[in-house]
Amino acid sequence: ACPFRGTRIGGATGSEPQLDHWWPNRLKVELLHQDPVQANPFGAHHDYAEAFSKIDYDALKADIRSFLTSSVDWWPSDYGHYGPQMIRMAWHSAGTYRIADGRGGAGQGMQRFAPINSWWDNGNTDKSRRLLWPIKQKYGEGISWADLMVLTGNVALEIMGLKTFGYGAGRIDAWEADRATYWGPEGWNGKRPSEAPSGPLEGHPNQMVTRDIRWEGDVEEDYYDLENPLAASHQSLIYVDPEGPNGNGNPIDSARDIRETFARMAMNDEETVALIAGGHAFGKSHGMVTPDKIGPAPEGAPMSAMGMGWKNPEGPGFAQYTMTNGIEGSWTPEPTRWDNDYLTNLFAFEWEKTESPAGAVQWKPKDPGAPKTPDAHVDGQMNELMMMTSDIALKEDPAYRAICEKFLNDFDYFSDAFARAWYKLTHRDMGPKVRYMGPEVASEDLPWQDPIPALDHPVVDASDIEALKRKCLDTGLGVPALVSAAWSSAANYRDSDKRGGANGARVRLWPQNGWEVNRPAELSKVLDALETIQSEFNGTASGGKRISMADLIVLAGCAAVEKAAKDGGIDVEVPFVPGRMDASQEWTDETFEWLKPVSDGFRNYHNEQVGYNVAPEQIFLDRAMLLKLTAPEWTALSGGMKVLDQNWDGSKHGLFTDRPGVLSNDFFQVLTSPEYEWEPHDDREMMFNLKARASGETAFTATRCDLVFGANAQLRQVAEVYGANDGNERLVRDFVKAWHKVMMLDRFDAKEEREKV
Ligand code: HEM
Repeated sequence: ACPFRGTRIGGATGSEPQLDHWWPNRLKVELLHQDPVQANPFGAHHDYAEAFSKIDYDALKADIRSFLTSSVDWWPSDYGHYGPQMIRMAWHSAGTYRIADGRGGAGQGMQRFAPINSWWDNGNTDKSRRLLWPIKQKYGEGISWADLMVLTGNVALEIMGLKTFGYGAGRIDAWEADRATYWGPEGWNGKRPSEAPSGPLEGHPNQMVTRDIRWEGDVEEDYYDLENPLAASHQSLIYVDPEGPNGNGNPIDSARDIRETFARMAMNDEETVALIAGGHAFGKSHGMVTPDKIGPAPEGAPMSAMGMGWKNPEGPGFAQYTMTNGIEGSWTPEPTRWDNDYLTNLFAFEWEKTESPAGAVQWKPKDPGAPKTPDAHVDGQMNELMMMTSDIALKEDPAYRAICEKFLNDFDYFSDAFARAWYKLTHRDMGPKVRYMGPEVASEDLPWQDPIPALDHPVVDASDIEALKRKCLDTGLGVPALVSAAWSSAANYRDSDKRGGANGARVRLWPQNGWEVNRPAELSKVLDALETIQSEFNGTASGGKRISMADLIVLAGCAAVEKAAKDGGIDVEVPFVPGRMDASQEWTDETFEWLKPVSDGFRNYHNEQVGYNVAPEQIFLDRAMLLKLTAPEWTALSGGMKVLDQNWDGSKHGLFTDRPGVLSNDFFQVLTSPEYEWEPHDDREMMFNLKARASGETAFTATRCDLVFGANAQLRQVAEVYGANDGNERLVRDFVKAWHKVMMLDRFDAKEEREKV
């Protein structure tokens, strides 16, 4: 009998419906606490760098090499070589990266979790990872899944003949699925994208709709745009549909999608062609069975599948029966060798459309005398060469064609271009080079790594710090200006791809120095004053000591925050860790512009020129997440920034105090007080008047990003702590801690100090 009363258990922990089903538009503040340390079996103090340093890297590579040329019965290797399928696994691991918010990418091994593990485009990558388990098992904590996937792809390239550009380890695994990243508006059902029925999105996760939801504009009108921050043409794809947009088999349309989506991965035309032509020098596509026969993706598969999906009922379900994407065949006669045959054949022959056994659009040479390619499993069987619509695109698009011709005529140049683009693809989201580990890190600095020179001088000591702080305050620039400069310098950091931050002082350089959110005119005055202080100090300091602008900007912020707290009656010391260096304009990649905020609730900045499908507070939450803030840190910083008069345009929204520039809990006292009513300016509820109930007078004005801390249930609980009568000192101390954390987010060079925060 059931241990409960009654005969039936209707649901368990987490059974639907839950909060998000009842209130789909609620602000999901709890997302700030994703992938918590409690989920990590290695615990809070696991030092991956140390564990990695203990493994025998050469032995690991040797193990990978011998695995790659082996074959197991439950998933035999094509051509006796797992290399191509491992390259695809690594490319798909990295290829989710998108530059708009820095999310996706190989950095945390997210291919292991839903939804990515179950995207149609990731078909059979579950087998690739499972094949690697014996190696992962052998090296345990010494190599993360995220690192192993990329390393295996690299070794595969090497043993098939490509001289790779290098390899850096240092990717730290996540331990739970990511519930925050927005992957696009379409639903999906694990089927081929081109099978998507058209129709409205009904909100059900299994509802598949056409790709066009995320695109807007019209090609004819020369305006065609993909919704930000997305980088794939359709939900559940890594980049584009190989059969052309909506499976239309049109190479020119395909080229347009490729250009847009690869640009969103920060790849230019040459890198794009190098990657596609380089990748498809290897392996084959699999399309022997119609998709309707294929079982559910891993996340929906039965228990007995043990985490693997896409069960194929045909024959044994693998080898010559394999069904992955639906297209069938290989691009070259020798699919396990690095050569130029892909481009040679693309250009040597006319290609005509045909259909795979699974019904997918693909292309074959018109010339019956074109070379054939051996079957991956059946001895003696020779098959026709194959191209995808997305491959023909490289020949049909004039700009891509010119690059192909250059590669075709210069194999060494092509090899180098591919090796470099692969390195960028697989390391792009790792942030600064100091995060890379292992003996194969390329010594050359690359612009996309946002290089900062290594520390080359003794740094300031405690008495220098005190003297410099006094000088910063003596400039008379005032607390808000110094706070704003330091915040502008540090707060564009994003933990997704570890770009931005105060180190390098790129706030002095284009484009960051011109971003309106950074109050450029005031910023330039602050920078001038600090440069004077810097040159005085560097000209006279003993023992070769120097201070960089990057350090001085942060130090000026520390001085200002200390003063703001003291003016409110609380003595605090804001920690300062010197050692930052200054970057140069020459080494500031133009893609830095992507770090520019379109909306920033800390400074009540909301660029109305941009079209938004989401409310400002949702973008504010996103910003908090990219800064790795917890809900209390986010709340403390927001309330503090408001009373420190940080609005980008000098407006008074959210300035709930009569002593601007003093660090206090005034913001929270007003925010939580029932003595006010909050009257929206219009139906959109973007701006509000705070009217004193007693007098009917408007006492303050506010934005959504101010009031959300009182309106949202979770944030309000925190705001009440700071708004309480005993909340002032707590607010000041928590603000200081969170401030320091933001200043240290990019200090991978000072690992120990960073981890203390
Ligand atoms: C295989 C599409 C770019 C490397 C495939 C397959 C498809 C595909 C449909 C067949 C999967 C299967 O059925 O097994 C595309 C599209 C691309 C693209 C549409 C972009 C326009 C790349 C890039 C790389 C790459 C950038 C690596 C640098 C590979 C490899 C295979 C493959 C090595 C063979 C896998 C195997 O033999 O199992 N690609 N790909 N592809 N792709 Fe791509």
